[in-house]
Amino acid sequence: EKIYVNGEIFSSENAKISVFDRGFLFGDGIYEVMMQLENGIFYKKAHFDRLQSNLNKIGIDYAVEEIESELDNLISASSLTDKACLIYIQVTRGIAPRKHSYPKGVSASVMMYTLPYSLPLVNPTHMKSILTADFRWHRCDIKSTSLLGNIMTNESAVSANANEATLVRQGLVTEGSHSNIFFVKDGKVITHPANEHILDGITRRIVIGLCKDLNLPVIEQAVAETDIEQMDEAFFTGTTTQVASIAELGRHVFYRNDQVGEVTRNLQRAFSELRS
Ligand code: PDD
Repeated sequence: EKIYVNGEIFSSENAKISVFDRGFLFGDGIYEVMMQLENGIFYKKAHFDRLQSNLNKIGIDYAVEEIESELDNLISASSLTDKACLIYIQVTRGIAPRKHSYPKGVSASVMMYTLPYSLPLVNPTHMKSILTADFRWHRCDIKSTSLLGNIMTNESAVSANANEATLVRQGLVTEGSHSNIFFVKDGKVITHPANEHILDGITRRIVIGLCKDLNLPVIEQAVAETDIEQMDEAFFTGTTTQVASIAELGRHVFYRNDQVGEVTRNLQRAFSELRS
């Protein structure tokens, strides 16, 4: 496995970063996760644009165009050209003595790695999810490397033998610990609006586009926890999650066997066609 750190490519044992890196000290950085398929990086521009806009939001002065050619070098150094792989990129504010305010005149630190990873065309998992309090901050739109709220809620799902945690803020379902969530009711598709309480997932946006192609009305409105039992279908979306049908959500059981609702199935099929 090869790792890119600040302009150089290392083997994983030799890749090093300072203990004074603000990503390490404060979680002061932005990350992206993308998939390369045999025919290129899936929605590359959307991921790079989101990375740039997130860096701008937190005042990290860095132009992501610099990463694009470096990423090609990393992929070829990893012998993953034209192969399916997962790409992780993180950009932190840089290395400086520990002080809360933004340091002046430091350069951002960039780290990237790739790993071979292929996804089945349709996510076969029948997701089981717990419901848990969304105790994260009020800037979940920022894809920050500070992910304590996400990992703590995800861990409570895993320790309850579930695949994902569904987060609830003030009685409203926001998103998953590492995915967005959609519901289907009477043929309409419902998902939380893209505001500061969720990450506006690239897969979320793709699925909203697919709904339009399939003439499915989309309502960007939060669903109340107490309305979950009235929903017909539910699914998660994300770069690695793709479109995953939810079989159980909290106490509500959508399907007792390996059934998948019709709208979810149609969206899974349409999503898998985008990849070929
Ligand atoms: N998850 N919401 C949160 C909190 C996330 O961490 C993610 C991404 C998403 C979905 O975003 P996208 O569709 O752009 O991946 C929503 C990780 C990176 C993943 O699914 O791989």
